[in-house]
Amino acid sequence: MQTPELTRGFGSDNHSPVHPRILEALTLVNQGHAAAYGQDPYTERARARFREIFNHPVEVFFVFNGTAANVLVLRSLLKSHEAVITAETSHLAVDECGAPEFHGGHKVLTCRTVDGKIGPEDIKPWLIRKGDQHAVQPRLVSIAQPTEFGTVYTIDELKRLRQFCNDNGLYLHMDGARLANACVQLNCSFADLTTGVGLDALSLGGAKNGLLGAEAVVLFSQSHASDFRFIQKQEMQLPSKVRFFAAQFEAYFANNFWREIAMRSCELAQKLAAGLREIPAVSITQKVESNAVFARVPKHWIKPLKDVCFFYVWNERDWTLRLMLSYDNDESDIRRFLDAAIKLSNQGTLT
Ligand SMILES: Cc1ncc(COP(=O)(O)O)c(C=O)c1O
Repeated sequence: MQTPELTRGFGSDNHSPVHPRILEALTLVNQGHAAAYGQDPYTERARARFREIFNHPVEVFFVFNGTAANVLVLRSLLKSHEAVITAETSHLAVDECGAPEFHGGHKVLTCRTVDGKIGPEDIKPWLIRKGDQHAVQPRLVSIAQPTEFGTVYTIDELKRLRQFCNDNGLYLHMDGARLANACVQLNCSFADLTTGVGLDALSLGGAKNGLLGAEAVVLFSQSHASDFRFIQKQEMQLPSKVRFFAAQFEAYFANNFWREIAMRSCELAQKLAAGLREIPAVSITQKVESNAVFARVPKHWIKPLKDVCFFYVWNERDWTLRLMLSYDNDESDIRRFLDAAIKLSNQGTLT
């Protein structure tokens, strides 16, 4: 069978292959019979590992994708008249095809944001009608760490948000599709950004970090966990061969492999941003704090740049590109892209 030739680009960290070390972990557990639905010894071992990593008696549930992780958290923490507050740019609000509204019927209340982050001042206006029988009741704040703009909440910002949530009877959920990148940026552990902050729930990403279709929901309190398994099944997100999910996360945590993967993509993002900053017609529009670079370029650059390295245009009003680095990109991808941008820039000066 002929394999199509694929070139690396900056389209998404979802475009990268499964990391060979993860494939190896899958092969290792691919023998013998093991009980299904998470009753097997591999899954038991992985659950124990999660408890060590998060330094808390967390409950872990493996699901097929990040959208499901987010939606299941809402379904298990919210009642039908309760709403989630999130950034207007969040995956939950704009990239889940209405799944939160469809599956749980929960209203999604959005806050304006310039850098993907939200804070108490952004949330407050939604609390005005708390207790009013005629209004939907805000009950959970969902943030992404890093945000969809690749920006990162500091630990202080997270703690302030937690305090605000406590003061206002709100749960705090973190969409950690790329949580490892935030840990690298802040030089801290998974536990520091979650247990240390007092999260209620976490969606922990795998697919963007070299895993194969494996994401995890991490719940920090037993009371939230008790109904979760029923909701997970009802929502068709209970895998049968859970050992293959568990094995991937075990390998991801082993010897801080997660940090290695995240460090690589974050370093590459810094290199790409540094090169782009040298080109006068390019402006970097967001702080580069994880594996994403948001860069505004002249419109006529889009096609020739895409021809050398694929990416998505984030904003077609001002031609901002979203350039996502993956662990498997390398310096030659960056060089190829920068050379093309420099060439376009020089052509601009000549005409
Ligand atoms: C911030 C964020 N959350 C969650 C997801 C999960 O998406 P999926 O359902 O495609 O796994 C993504 C994927 O792009 C994301 O960027």
